[in-house]
Amino acid sequence: MLSKTIEAALNKQIRIEAESSQAYLAMAVWAEVKGLEGISNFMYDQSDEEREHMLKLVKFVNERGGHAHISELNAPNVTFNSFKEMFEKLLAHEIFVSESINELVHISLQEKDYASHNFLQWYVAEQIEEEAVARTILDKVNMIGDDKGGLYLFDRDIQQLTVSSAADTPAE
Ligand SMILES: [Fe+2]
Ligand SMILES: [Fe+2]
Repeated sequence: MLSKTIEAALNKQIRIEAESSQAYLAMAVWAEVKGLEGISNFMYDQSDEEREHMLKLVKFVNERGGHAHISELNAPNVTFNSFKEMFEKLLAHEIFVSESINELVHISLQEKDYASHNFLQWYVAEQIEEEAVARTILDKVNMIGDDKGGLYLFDRDIQQLTVSSAADTPAE
């Protein structure tokens, strides 16, 4: 059985994952409208992943005798000055999510809730991966600068990045 404290903290994370999914969906749409098909597909995939993160938490809360709370969401950013700015926002958001997961792990230990602590380790590992992917992308984006040819190749190659990072994650 979940304590009220951990249930509230998990529900807060459900909202954060849902907001992440919406934020990345907005990025996918923005990139698609700009004609950046590869970047757009990458962000649609990221959005789907965030929804899975949310659902995993929903199921866990309900399985442990809690009640997953499906809340209203803050509206995401829908326009960006550049794709560089978009990816800076992506990395900043992943760092914010990692901090939130860390806080959740801390609460689970305070509550002596070792089942939740164990469950949350998946998110700890996932955040290492997500931050690493976002940093790799931003490094490449910084290398490209204003070079249109570079952007064309990057838009094509980002698909490979999706594939390789998905291959690193063991199947569930
Ligand atoms: Fe997530
Ligand atoms: Fe994420």
